[in-house]
Amino acid sequence: MPEPVIRAENLVKAYRAKGRPDFVAVDGLSFEVAPGESFGLLGPNGAGKSTTMKMVGAVSTRTSGDLSILGLDPDRYGPEIRSRLGVVPQQDNLDGELNARENLYVYGRYFGMPGKECKQKAEELLAFAQLEDRATHKVDQLSGGMKRRLTIARGLINDPRILLLDEPTTGLDPQARHVLWDRLFRLKERGTTLVLTTHYMDEAEQLCDRLIVVDKGRIMAEGTPATLIRQHSSREVAEVRFGSQHNERIAAQLAGFGDRVEVLPDRILVYAHDGEGVLARIADAGLEPLTSLVRRSSLEDVFLRLTGRSLIE
Ligand SMILES: Nc1ncnc2c1ncn2[C@@H]1O[C@H](COP(=O)(O)OP(=O)(O)O)[C@@H](O)[C@H]1O
Ligand SMILES: [Mg+2]
Repeated sequence: MPEPVIRAENLVKAYRAKGRPDFVAVDGLSFEVAPGESFGLLGPNGAGKSTTMKMVGAVSTRTSGDLSILGLDPDRYGPEIRSRLGVVPQQDNLDGELNARENLYVYGRYFGMPGKECKQKAEELLAFAQLEDRATHKVDQLSGGMKRRLTIARGLINDPRILLLDEPTTGLDPQARHVLWDRLFRLKERGTTLVLTTHYMDEAEQLCDRLIVVDKGRIMAEGTPATLIRQHSSREVAEVRFGSQHNERIAAQLAGFGDRVEVLPDRILVYAHDGEGVLARIADAGLEPLTSLVRRSSLEDVFLRLTGRSLIE
């Protein structure tokens, strides 16, 4: 096992609140990230993902626990750690006064890189982010996806060993997400360590070698997407809708049709190895769903199983 580039042990963040007990946003997370790995934190809003990322990025101090980034303690070596990381925060913080190219250049200078090197690197990164034709556009003129790509490019200006991405594609349309995923795949292929948070299960499945499922500041499960699905769900899911007022009653009738049945407000999920088999049994029982489909289990099902809630509320 190579030395991990990130090691967190019992990491805790409690936010101080006046007149109220402290709010524990991160409640004892322990995880390690290996070099070159693509590691994810998957969890709903409020799970503590951004708080964790800020501590890993050495911009927020921990309340307790141990944390080591590239072998250094962020409490003592904040600037050293920050200079070796690339950060893509949840909220883009590009400089709206500057154009795309200038944003990259200025950021490089901020890291103390020589001007000539910044210029060269900026051109390289504009190409990587597929923004060459937008180089002179002000940030405000860029689409959401372009801004996100520019923020990623900016995070890469110092050739970081680790790139931290907090919800890289939240708010983007499907096409812009796919363009972004493609760029992140390329970084992964080049051996950059990626640490990303997301509440999109498909994003976690696509990009993460390994992930932790986080809820209310705690780890609910850890593993590769495939292992997590195997351990916590069936191979397939039959989704059937009988109309919101009937789902609850009919779900009781479907109990034996699969390994497990979940009733959501708008549909019933029947977990089974063979989803088509479930649909056949439903039809044999004389039940006629308004709609039905069979799909493979996903991380969304894992989350539902572990927490009884959906990732996106
Ligand atoms: N600066 C802060 N002060 C107080 N509470 C905070 C602060 N930042 C985040 N929180 C709270 O901590 C919890 C976790 O937030 P966050 O880490 O942003 O979650 P996530 O990124 O998973 O959505 C939330 O309940 C949030 O309201
Ligand atoms: Mg967040």
